[in-house]
Amino acid sequence: MSQHIVEIVHREEFSSAHRLVSASLTDEENRALYGPCYSLHGHNYAVEVTVRGPVRAETGMVMDLNRLMALMQEHIVSEVDHKYLNDDVPYLEGVITTAENLAIAFWRRLHPHIAAFEPCLLHRIRVYESRLNFADYHGPTAG
Ligand code: NI
Repeated sequence: MSQHIVEIVHREEFSSAHRLVSASLTDEENRALYGPCYSLHGHNYAVEVTVRGPVRAETGMVMDLNRLMALMQEHIVSEVDHKYLNDDVPYLEGVITTAENLAIAFWRRLHPHIAAFEPCLLHRIRVYESRLNFADYHGPTAG
């Protein structure tokens, strides 16, 4: 019997302020590296979460998308929307708030809650910092 593996995606949007600062660089080096992103500014972000798994014969679903939406709202959006990412979000303390690092941080927030839906797997977290720029994270690699 063949098994059908499908990826489902839910997207949420939020608005946050941030600035890019590396603690290992001087003011001058930070300004040179990050340019305008060294200044306080904001973005209309989007986060897309992909869950991969078999389509269950009894429901026709991989995972209830409304459940995924609720988990993303609770564990990601509610904590970052209309916040200053550098200061207001405890789990981002000491993190350079690039789209790359946000994708990793959001993975850590969400992963334990998706694990409960085994055999579904958290497959990808995509963070859009703007319409044109985004970062994809597929989870930690071994080693
Ligand atoms: Ni920025």
